[in-house]
Amino acid sequence: MLQRPRRLRASEGIRRLARETRLSTDDLVLPLFVREGEGQADPIESMPGHARLSIDRLVETARGAASLGIGGVALFPVIDEADKDPRGSVSSKPDGLLQRAVRALKQALPQMIVITDVALDPYSSDGHDGVLLDGRIDNDQTLPILADMAVAQAEAGADIVAPSDMMDGRVRAIREALDAAGHLDVAIGSYCAKYASAFYGPFREALDSAPRAGDKKTYQMDPANAREALRELALDEAEGADWVMVKPGLPYLDLIRAFREHTSLPVAAYHVSGEYAMLRAAAERGWLDYDACLLESLTALRRAGADVIFSYGALDAARLLAAG
Ligand code: PBG
Repeated sequence: MLQRPRRLRASEGIRRLARETRLSTDDLVLPLFVREGEGQADPIESMPGHARLSIDRLVETARGAASLGIGGVALFPVIDEADKDPRGSVSSKPDGLLQRAVRALKQALPQMIVITDVALDPYSSDGHDGVLLDGRIDNDQTLPILADMAVAQAEAGADIVAPSDMMDGRVRAIREALDAAGHLDVAIGSYCAKYASAFYGPFREALDSAPRAGDKKTYQMDPANAREALRELALDEAEGADWVMVKPGLPYLDLIRAFREHTSLPVAAYHVSGEYAMLRAAAERGWLDYDACLLESLTALRRAGADVIFSYGALDAARLLAAG
């Protein structure tokens, strides 16, 4: 037989040489949830291994991630119900929870890249990413709020602000506000093709941020659409995004590949809460091997074209990679 592809699979040694994609802790971002208090780690039921962490515990966890070589952390605040309002006002307070968390992290670990989420939902009494007015999400009233939020995060020391709200024109509004405030080097990591996905369920449980009424389909993308994602990509590039994300991850590998082929910007993928929960739940029942399925999932995201991967399994993956 002339062609025997199996020759290149015959031993671990030859497979290593022939391997096309590699997973590295350099490319991984660990999402973390932060809450008020001290010494607190309040487990998130649908995300085994993850907890709502008080700032001291958050710093401890990030230190562990840094020592394993993880590239960055992405922070999400758990805001007390009493502090939420329709405009998410606490989101731009210099002493707000997220801003304090960023300051503490950058002080303890100056090298760690800190990524902050820009959207109203954790702060909004309506649980939406934008301002709810007369039964609809008002795009243009939301933009200045997002811009103020991003500036407050930059002021606290965030390296990358990551708008996840899907309002039109938000990247430009945020860039202009950051520049006007002197934060020329704070990057914008845009959640560019963010779909109205049912895979965000566990995340919304973690933050108690599910929409109080309706859904997010008037701003997040329709899972049936791919060409539309390329339009979002062109807009975000023109508006000054520094990297572009596809979210969720595994169900959207075609989009990651399309982005890789259409942009020279780094492409990020978000292996979201529901994807993580599925692996954990199946493993708990003994139906899947969590470690192997996690590494396979993250490798698939890399193979599709992701340069950066956000995953709740980042710490586990880093430990597995370090163990060889
Ligand atoms: C908030 C935001 C969400 C996620 C990241 N930022 C939830 C949503 O849009 O409802 C989801 C992350 C995950 O499920 O892991 N705008």
